[in-house]
Amino acid sequence: MAEKFDVVDIIRTKRDGGELSTDEIRWVIDAYTRGVVGDEQMAALNMAIFIRDMDRREIVDWTQAMIDSGETMNFDSLSKPTTDKHSTGGVGDKVTLPLGPLVSSYGVAVPQLSGRGLGHTGGTLDKLEAIPGWKADVPNDLMMKILEDSGAVVAAAGAGLAPADKKIYALRDITATVDCIPLIASSIMSKKIAEGTSSLVLDVKVGTGAFMKEFDKARQLAETMVQLGRDAGVDTRALLTDMNVPLGRKIGNGLEVEESIEVLQGGGPADLVEITCELARHMLEMAGVHDADVEEALKDGRAMDSWRKMIKAQGGDPDAKLARAPHTHEVFADRDGFVSELDALALGVGSWRLGAGRARKEDPVQLTAGIEIHAGLGEKVTKGQKLLTLHTETPDRFERALESINTGLKIGDEKPAERKIILDKIV
Ligand code: URA
Repeated sequence: MAEKFDVVDIIRTKRDGGELSTDEIRWVIDAYTRGVVGDEQMAALNMAIFIRDMDRREIVDWTQAMIDSGETMNFDSLSKPTTDKHSTGGVGDKVTLPLGPLVSSYGVAVPQLSGRGLGHTGGTLDKLEAIPGWKADVPNDLMMKILEDSGAVVAAAGAGLAPADKKIYALRDITATVDCIPLIASSIMSKKIAEGTSSLVLDVKVGTGAFMKEFDKARQLAETMVQLGRDAGVDTRALLTDMNVPLGRKIGNGLEVEESIEVLQGGGPADLVEITCELARHMLEMAGVHDADVEEALKDGRAMDSWRKMIKAQGGDPDAKLARAPHTHEVFADRDGFVSELDALALGVGSWRLGAGRARKEDPVQLTAGIEIHAGLGEKVTKGQKLLTLHTETPDRFERALESINTGLKIGDEKPAERKIILDKIV
């Protein structure tokens, strides 16, 4: 059967700054998913979009076409409301782990379909796999049962959800077209809308360790995603949060689980608790639970009870001791002063080089590799004081990791300005 359009005409239209029609967009995404449009042609089109941008109608059409490329999920048969959060990714961002159980402890269902880490940012599934027995693959019927019974699930997004995005994202990754607002917004939102949640809060990270380094760009991305969600009938809000400094004091899969458990025990670092609680309040409000004292739910063990149920429901042992790496290396202060720089990207790349992350999606990760931060940004330190502990299973990695870490760790004479964590909100 003859095809409806010629992909070369579509690429030329966008290359020359024109607008693509709804039909053209629907066809090109479908034809690429079917293999009729080649990788080189989609790569050229992505680059044309990167340079020429898309208007709001085109972004809506592009998102819908990616949703239509696969199956959608539906949680309408549950007896409770559903809510979810998505982070655009950062260093030490383990918020999903305490957040799901915290919100579900209020009787709300939190179906979180997550991915694996790529590059210097970690993935939620890799982190949870540090818990002995825990499994990311949850069949749909079991997911519904867990959501109904205990309320929170973190599972691998099935291959059937927005398959066009999977193909396009892999291509963008190797053609320098990832950091493009219409392409990021449609990629994230196609998966979240297909997932079928009724409400969603987006944590859009801003800073060196994030996709978006500048506030204005991050705000534009957040607005685009919120609009896409609302247009599709998903009650959507966004927070813009700082990612110039790692979140919390631990980076790396198993280490981040340890820190999440500290939060669920009512402790943990202040920045991590602040973001977790703020996101939880928004999710609960959208699910109809107002004035929840989420700090108290962390302190009185309710959230911890939900965590234990969540881990057990997916085969994990919440009482198992988490493994620690066999090799460590400590970094000490070489002078007195204040920690004046603790750069998220430098530490993220350092942790990745220690083995916590992967370069290609088929690579394995070390569950115990990563970095512990003993002195946070702005803390007064004295010469010889321990600043960091690096963990790995392969000690030949220390040198390359330190090359990155040393570019982002500084001690100065002046205490740096107080760091603001939550920079803006779209509610
Ligand atoms: N995460 C996604 O799922 N897609 C993007 O384009 C960027 C981050």
